Amino acid sequence: AITVDPSAQGAKIDDTMYGVFFEDINRAADGGLYAELVQNRSFEYSTADNGSYTPLTSWTVGGTAQVVNDSGRLNERNRNYLSLGAGSTVTNAGYNTGIRVEQGKKYDFSVWARAESGSTLTVSLKDAAGSLATARQVAVKGGWAKYKATFTATRTSNRGRLAVAAANPAALDEVSLFPRDTYKNQPNGLRKDLAEKIAALKPGFVRFPGGCLVNTGSMEDYSEASNWQRKRSYQWKDTIGPVEQRATNANFWGYNQSYGLGYYEYFRFSEDIGAMPLPVVPALVTGCGQNKATDDEALLKRHIQDTLDLIEFANGPATSTWGKVRAQMGHPKPFHLTHIGVGNEENLPREFFARFEKFRAAIKAKYPDITVISNSGPDDAGTTFDTAWQLNREGKVDMVDEHYYNSPNWFLQNNDRYDSYDRKGPKVFLGEYASQGNAWKNGLAEAAYMTGLERNADIVKLASYAPLLANEDYVQWRPDMIWFNNRASWNSANYEVQKLFMTNVGDRVVPSKATTTPNVSGPITGAVGLSTWATSAAYDDVKVTSADGSTLLSDDFSGDASKWTTSGRGSWSIQDGQYVQSDTAAENTMVTAGDPAWKDYDLHVKATKKSGK
Ligand code: AHR
Repeated sequence: AITVDPSAQGAKIDDTMYGVFFEDINRAADGGLYAELVQNRSFEYSTADNGSYTPLTSWTVGGTAQVVNDSGRLNERNRNYLSLGAGSTVTNAGYNTGIRVEQGKKYDFSVWARAESGSTLTVSLKDAAGSLATARQVAVKGGWAKYKATFTATRTSNRGRLAVAAANPAALDEVSLFPRDTYKNQPNGLRKDLAEKIAALKPGFVRFPGGCLVNTGSMEDYSEASNWQRKRSYQWKDTIGPVEQRATNANFWGYNQSYGLGYYEYFRFSEDIGAMPLPVVPALVTGCGQNKATDDEALLKRHIQDTLDLIEFANGPATSTWGKVRAQMGHPKPFHLTHIGVGNEENLPREFFARFEKFRAAIKAKYPDITVISNSGPDDAGTTFDTAWQLNREGKVDMVDEHYYNSPNWFLQNNDRYDSYDRKGPKVFLGEYASQGNAWKNGLAEAAYMTGLERNADIVKLASYAPLLANEDYVQWRPDMIWFNNRASWNSANYEVQKLFMTNVGDRVVPSKATTTPNVSGPITGAVGLSTWATSAAYDDVKVTSADGSTLLSDDFSGDASKWTTSGRGSWSIQDGQYVQSDTAAENTMVTAGDPAWKDYDLHVKATKKSGK
């Protein structure tokens, strides 16, 4: 039985409670959300990013071409360029199987080029079967300048290649191809299907840009004069301004990041989807399993100043130094930053907290209304976590960012985790969590856990599943919420759970108590309902229909105790009234690696409880 007391007042739930955590991991940015179709567009890939890279990774050369780093470069922050010989061609292979183009759609090509004696570039889009668009000729003359051309695809292909041929010698850099059709048609914009999937969650906030991406290497010097080119520390100022002036960098996850998707684009995207922007800055202590910190006072001062400048970039008037930069990029109005994270999962709690306090003091002195979020380190169920929490509590911080990845059983068993958290202590930002898997049972365990977060919404103020995105051909971390390749994207069961909660945020918790397994009758819509039903008890006479009423599955559990088939879409079975994943690979086919058509089903499940028959 479920007892509900409608007159009782449970916790108030903030509209911003559920959000998303974006990190450029699994090619979430370049080759993912960032709509650029050319890989290694500025010839900056190097072994510092990945041992297998060269400056010509993703390019093939016909004739003579070499990557040059000399004083003839495009600018100080874009060091390499391509010197293309007369009658020679370079061809880019994009990501995954190639450049995806759709018949009838427009694609904007641009290149920075230099040809002192003049040259003509012939730019074409093709695949193994031939041309994909009418080739364009671009006349180049003199020093570095930007040239543009537009293609309209005559065929759809997932295996496109962009080729640039030079009649006479020419220098090329920042070779780019963008779909005209980006999310909200923003320039230097985002891939539409992925952005729409994130927007459909109606997230309360967007945490960015990481993750381990943020804090690893943050004790390294990042002065212009020394190692700015390969600094391995994520600095927001490197990610704004004209894209050809954003120095690419080694990404912690083993590839190169162009920063084409940078802080301006993160703020703009948050605004476009109505979410609160929540940046995280490095705190000069390495987390993510690395135990390093620096006592370099000058570096600390610079980091703190950069953080203050970031707040000005987001919120300052267009007349302020950094507000002006934002305005010049196209956004005179502020981005309304209210929360900022300092640090990510540091392994040295004392060293971290000493530095955190300095950041907080400087931020609060200038911007007293900003919520400064601290960190608990990894949840090791032991000293690091406990020490971090003790310091945070004693230091009276506003909010603490917690991270954990555990088994589905752990999530089921720890639904009461926050029931006992000190109500007078810091609030909680559950910045990263996931049960280990993308199967239905994982989504279900997370849903159960989220009821515990909601019950404690007076203390758990923000929560985001992690990570958000994964390109199936470049995976460093799984599970992930949304999967994709160069031509399609599909949701995990975990995504559906997040969506269910995020799009139905209540105002207040109504306290309730369940004393038996809930009975299920009548239609249950959606995959989560199916999982809830299927794992909760034994049922009979089960029918799953799609929205148009056609039967997808049905069984009366007579005969061979109910083998189900799923119209060829993966294989589940119901045995003795219990949902059984008979084949993990098939399950993955269904929910992660998928058949994008699956998402179109609006499932209705009807079942009669066995004992009640
Ligand atoms: O979400 C993946 C990683 O998990 C994040 O980068 C890090 O913060 C955590 O360890």
